[in-house]
Amino acid sequence: METLKVELGTRSYPILIGERLLAQPQVLRPLLPGRDFLIVSNTTVAPLYLAPLLEALPAHRHLEVLLPDGEVHKTLANAARVLDVLIANRFGRDATVIALGGGVVGDLAGFVAACYQRGIALVQVPTTLLAQVDSAVGGKTAVNHPGGKNLIGAFHQPVAVIADTATLATLPPRELRAGLAEVIKYGLLCDAAFFEWLEQHLPELLAGKAEALAYVVRRSCEIKAMIVGKDEREERGDRALLNLGHTFGHAVESATGYRKWLHGEAVGAGLVMAAAMSRELGLVSPEELVRIHTLIERAGLPTRDAGVAPGTALEHMRIDKKVLAGRLRLVLLRRIGNAFLTADYPEDALERTLQAYCG
Ligand code: NAD
Ligand code: GLY
Repeated sequence: METLKVELGTRSYPILIGERLLAQPQVLRPLLPGRDFLIVSNTTVAPLYLAPLLEALPAHRHLEVLLPDGEVHKTLANAARVLDVLIANRFGRDATVIALGGGVVGDLAGFVAACYQRGIALVQVPTTLLAQVDSAVGGKTAVNHPGGKNLIGAFHQPVAVIADTATLATLPPRELRAGLAEVIKYGLLCDAAFFEWLEQHLPELLAGKAEALAYVVRRSCEIKAMIVGKDEREERGDRALLNLGHTFGHAVESATGYRKWLHGEAVGAGLVMAAAMSRELGLVSPEELVRIHTLIERAGLPTRDAGVAPGTALEHMRIDKKVLAGRLRLVLLRRIGNAFLTADYPEDALERTLQAYCG
């Protein structure tokens, strides 16, 4: 087992990464604060992993809310359903919400924990690769709105993240590949050596080899913890870099009603679009663009043909949270391992990129 730390002063917290952590109540118990527990999970994950988690809980009251599975259920209405349970059962400020599942469950449960009585404890128990390497760490919580993804949310850091890498064994291959998009993102944005490692070890990851997966969870969490420690609320620019590929990807997701591609797949195509636009601006080299495109394709992720008209994609990009003073800011690449945030780019470069990759 490895323990990393997200350094945020009094709100610092550990990330535990290890094989079969859920089967070790003695490891989990000290990380579960409070009196009453509300476990939020979904109808797919709960049958697989709820029982061991229940065994680890101290002998206090605990309830479960199981959401229907899927991104379309990451709604304010479902968050309200969970809040109703907390209120109906008179949970107090010393209650703890435990999110057991992927990023959809984690984001929604985190949002509930942020809102209930102005904030109660949250423990993230991520069970997808995407959630273990990204969404469970860093305190971004949200639900979607028909007008856009993650438009309603709050920053609320967990008190602990417990990433049991053994849970990845039951993950459908398509979901594993979607998680790899966020992993590739870390290499692209700040760690060229990690990107190269991924180029070399991709077959082991796709085959679900435990050691390779544990390595990418650890390295990704190290990078994310470092960035969140520097810029918790995305105020200084560092954290915005984590959105590499996301502004393009979110536009496709919301334009297609979250039904065409998984979030990670949209991010995969978004990374290619960010790299292609960087090339349009004379930044990444043609060889690097090929390497990026190739790795994403080898990971089994889409790289183009979102089935969205370029103009529609642009409209959706314009309601992104990175619009500042009416100008859309984008995360682009100088080279592999070096990303930057900018509002200073020619509009036609963006339009050409969308024309080439959306359609
Ligand atoms: P998800 O939560 O929908 O999980 C993917 C699928 O895998 C679901 O069907 C789920 O039920 C199933 N599943 C989960 N764990 C499993 C397991 N161990 N075995 C078998 N099946 C399992 O999707 P995701 O990719 O984990 O998360 C995507 C969400 O995360 C999006 O809503 C996105 O906006 C959000 N996100 C948030 C952040 C953040 O910083 N908060 C970062 C990235 C993504
Ligand atoms: N996934 C983007 C962030 O956590 O900031």
